[in-house]
Amino acid sequence: MSEFEYAADLAELEATGLLGVWVEDTAVLLSLVDGEVHAINDICSHAHAHLSDGERHGPQVECLLHGARFDLRTGRHLCAPAYVDVDHYEVKVEDGKIYVRLED
Ligand code: FES
Repeated sequence: MSEFEYAADLAELEATGLLGVWVEDTAVLLSLVDGEVHAINDICSHAHAHLSDGERHGPQVECLLHGARFDLRTGRHLCAPAYVDVDHYEVKVEDGKIYVRLED
């Protein structure tokens, strides 16, 4: 089981509600939904676009390139042209710092 890795300070995420970061060599999209921190993979499953460049709609993010939407809480794809979910990561927050576990 992999360890939790530092991703960002909570204050950075609180400033925007949506934040793309790199954890090791993985692009991770952090979000705040109803006060809870979530982490999914930042690369759209349709083509290679960063979801952090997209537009947020409540608990969803819309890819800037072709409009696929994903649930920020689960990584679930919600509409075409994406037909595959993006990875969802376990998160913990300690002392104002966000940590994610990339895989288990
Ligand atoms: S790259 Fe995201 S919808 Fe096409």
